[in-house]
Amino acid sequence: MIVGKPLLSEDEIQKRVRELAAQISADFEGHELIAVGILKGAFMFFADLVRHIKVPMTIDFIIASSYVKDSTTGEVKVYYDLREDIKDKNVLLVEDIVDTGVTLNYLRERFLEQSPRALKICALLDKRERRIVDVPIDYKGFEIPNEFVVGYGLDYDNQYRNLPYISIFKKSI
Ligand code: PRP
Repeated sequence: MIVGKPLLSEDEIQKRVRELAAQISADFEGHELIAVGILKGAFMFFADLVRHIKVPMTIDFIIASSYVKDSTTGEVKVYYDLREDIKDKNVLLVEDIVDTGVTLNYLRERFLEQSPRALKICALLDKRERRIVDVPIDYKGFEIPNEFVVGYGLDYDNQYRNLPYISIFKKSI
């Protein structure tokens, strides 16, 4: 198995992360936020994003997964749930990638049932070609082609998450 050519460099990612954080800071000026990272994939993006957001916030996480290696099972499992009460709060849900949209759509509906004041979604990567379920993305980092990517939190079989850049991943034959 090989990690192919870089798709997004560390510099490109960090520049875009700061832009997204500035936009979120402006939109939520004067308000408090609960920022929720969707683990595992969003851990690196989430950590970089929140350190540049300038409004008061609390942090929470949810662990959800539907993929085994490079294929979605179509069924989202939640392994660790929110600890914060989000009723009447401004919530920012942070995801690394929207692919079929199944994960985010499931979590969005789960969150909306808890009656937040506002629910906004921030995703670093949008692989639109693969979308099955339409889900709104309020803050988007990059649109990417229909290639399997790893790095900056994204994995193949739980590996490569630690890379500071994003690369196209090819399985060797
Ligand atoms: C990945 C990624 C998103 C989801 C996107 O998570 O982090 O949560 O898949 O795919 P979808 O739009 O087709 O639902 P995964 O299930 O691989 O778990 P992980 O975050 O632990 O890597």
